[in-house]
Amino acid sequence: MCGIVGYAGGRSALDVVVAGLRRLEYRGYDSAGIAVLADGGLAAAKKAGKLANLEELLEGQPLPAGSTGIGHTRWATHGGPTDLNAHPHLDNAGRVAVVHNGIIENFAALRAELAERGHALESETDTEVVAHLLAEQFSSSADLAEAMRQVCRRLDGAFTLVAVHADEPDVVVGARRNSPLVVGVGQGENFLASDVAAFIAYTREAIELGQDQVVELRRDTVTVTDFEGKPAEVRPYHVDWDVSAAEKGGYDYFMLKEIAEQPKAVADTLLGRIGTDGRLTLDELRMPDRLLREIDKIVIVACGTAFHAGMIAKYAIEHWTRVPCEVELASEFRYRDPILDQRTLVVAISQSGETMDTLMALRHAREQGSKVLAICNTNGSTIPRESDAVLYTHAGPEVAVASTKAFLTQVVACYLVALYLGQVRGTKWGDEITGVIRELSEISTQVEQVLETMEPVRELARSLKDKNTVLFLGRHVGYPVALEGALKLKELAYMHAEGFAAGELKHGPIALIEKDLPVVVVVPSPRGRSVLHDKIVSNIQEIRARGARTIVIAEEGDEAVVPYADHLIRIPRTPVLLQPLVATVPLQVFACELATARGNEVDQPRNLAKSVTVE
Ligand code: F6R
Repeated sequence: MCGIVGYAGGRSALDVVVAGLRRLEYRGYDSAGIAVLADGGLAAAKKAGKLANLEELLEGQPLPAGSTGIGHTRWATHGGPTDLNAHPHLDNAGRVAVVHNGIIENFAALRAELAERGHALESETDTEVVAHLLAEQFSSSADLAEAMRQVCRRLDGAFTLVAVHADEPDVVVGARRNSPLVVGVGQGENFLASDVAAFIAYTREAIELGQDQVVELRRDTVTVTDFEGKPAEVRPYHVDWDVSAAEKGGYDYFMLKEIAEQPKAVADTLLGRIGTDGRLTLDELRMPDRLLREIDKIVIVACGTAFHAGMIAKYAIEHWTRVPCEVELASEFRYRDPILDQRTLVVAISQSGETMDTLMALRHAREQGSKVLAICNTNGSTIPRESDAVLYTHAGPEVAVASTKAFLTQVVACYLVALYLGQVRGTKWGDEITGVIRELSEISTQVEQVLETMEPVRELARSLKDKNTVLFLGRHVGYPVALEGALKLKELAYMHAEGFAAGELKHGPIALIEKDLPVVVVVPSPRGRSVLHDKIVSNIQEIRARGARTIVIAEEGDEAVVPYADHLIRIPRTPVLLQPLVATVPLQVFACELATARGNEVDQPRNLAKSVTVE
């Protein structure tokens, strides 16, 4: 939520910062703004709406050329998405500019205090107080990094702050508590950003900033301290993807590109994790086998799509390891006093690694003595940093707000963890594990096959563009798939979409069925638990009898569904537990096409942001 860029170097700061903001726009698109240090002063421009509005403004009123600057793309929290509330925020003299991601919880008290001292604050934001506090502190120290440390010690909440001061024209200062901030280290230039995507076109060398650290950036130096001014240890790392991965590559939307990348994402997530002897080698997990043998409960915490991946994982974990597994929305977890101890393994699933609800849940679990394993797609982000162990999904950067390839890889990574647990705890024989791994390895090709047959799904989506409601039904692992299909449709097509466990149909939801209502049904394989298959075929008949338009997702060769399907979407045959990896794909394509047909912004749906860094 909110994207931040800072630059100190030899290029035009305006160009670098605007290019960086373009790559971070997925984090928020309520407004955008920039400040550049030039000619002994500070020039700023900001505009409500997408970055394009700011670019248009800058064309008419260009900022002076300078090589130090900061920028921001906003997801509004305090104050509506107006020009006035857009970042950067300046002090009254217009010498300091600051951008912010997060929430400053004690801003009302600070604001009252500043007003008493004669400061005039103009916006409704929590951020503006920081510009004024920095100006005050700078007037005594003439050192922006020191001023930032002093100010941070007074702030409560979650914040990433990046600031410049006209009296230190070569310096950008950043501070980090809870929200993300990374440094890009170039040759004679350095960068600050919420995400490496902002500077990947210039450098792939990065430094992770830790909790409660302040960084002073000059073109040739990067100095990191804690909030007290003590030099801090930092961890440099190399970003292993390049700029092409952060671009659309010929697709109209990032989402389409990311859907198409799923076969590779799945294959990459399996890569290097299977030894020549067929045994799983998850060395990077950094969690001793002894510990994994001792756990007696697994609790998965996650939000949104990642939560659905966790729901699917539960079936496999319990089936393969016989360890009880709960799945809980991270936002609910710590508020109900969950029962946790040293023998509980908490698995936190997050694409971004920055979701605040998930972060807070894992902190709570660790305080109770539980070990936390993160499943994450973003190297160096906060969730894996604060976990005891991590397994990275190798989906590559996911830019579209609606999660697609990350979801498939989260399921695969959870399955790897489940199999590994089975391996170390002896609940799965080596040949069984090898068998499942072989099946998982085939999924990539099967997803490719699904992607090749999507034209009828797109056509169907277009034909439903004027509908108001679509329902989704599933059973067993198909139930979370139904929930995921509904979530994709809500967030992209802004339609009323709900997913149900098919067995619950007669306990209420069937009352919703009316003539021509589209209902998508995810049908389990007839070859697995055939009783489930037969029950869902009955459900299809029940809703069709009441007028529903049935859209049936069923595996190749399942003839029993044919008479009751108004639309039939075929998926390849897979083992029961792996079906979500192929069955979700048509639902992603369906939602994307419906959103396009309704004229919606696919990559940047209204009111949403990719990474939810506030609770
Ligand atoms: C939906 C979606 C969200 C995220 C959720 C968690 O398409 O993208 O529901 O899945 O906000 O985000 P991460 O995985 O970054 O923790």
